[in-house]
Amino acid sequence: MKIFLDTADIDEIKIAARWGILDGVTTNPTLYSKVGGASYDSILQEICKLTPGPVSAEVVAEDVDGMLEEGRHFAKLAPNIVVKVPMSEEGLEAMSRFAEEGIKTNCTLIFTANQGLLAAKAGASLISPFVGRLDDINQDGMIVIRELAEIFAIHEIESEVLAASIRNPLHMTQAALAGAHIATLPFKVLQQMVHHPLTDKGIVQFRSDWDSARKALAEKKGD
Ligand code: E4P
Repeated sequence: MKIFLDTADIDEIKIAARWGILDGVTTNPTLYSKVGGASYDSILQEICKLTPGPVSAEVVAEDVDGMLEEGRHFAKLAPNIVVKVPMSEEGLEAMSRFAEEGIKTNCTLIFTANQGLLAAKAGASLISPFVGRLDDINQDGMIVIRELAEIFAIHEIESEVLAASIRNPLHMTQAALAGAHIATLPFKVLQQMVHHPLTDKGIVQFRSDWDSARKALAEKKGD
């Protein structure tokens, strides 16, 4: 299963890349607004240098021509750019046109299996159901992940299910068990996955016992 980082923060991406677990990055206008300081284009280009994996760049236009214009522009920034397009009637048309042009797309704002199926039919290579936003309105977001993973397997659809809007480590485990091909995680959730109180306590204890043993040996030699 692939792990993407859901951020536009270069420092976070550098850390995850150093850990050797980074398979790609997703960004969106909200994540870009949190970092600012440079153009979206230049941030995307920097991210694309940090990972050879897919880097999602989201269009904001709501009409087909506008989406095509923004997407073609993003696709020229780096070879690993994937154009993120929202689910809508216009979005489907734009994704179908991008597919004809050989530009990869990630269909975002997916909340039902039917939306995901349509996006895959239109040619999107990544399908992003939003788990956390469904949980927020008292619906089980993981059901969409499970349904789409099953539908794609039954019908041998090549698009990948990308679990998005992940809010906690449990979401990650559940997405993996539900058959998601990819999960995109905020950096905080990635850090939470690394740690466990017993792991952290165990590291301190081993170090302390090691130091005690060495001290005891040194004292014995000094006798
Ligand atoms: C990623 O592709 C999505 O844009 C992102 O996961 C949305 O997350 P949120 O619901 O926490 O904003």
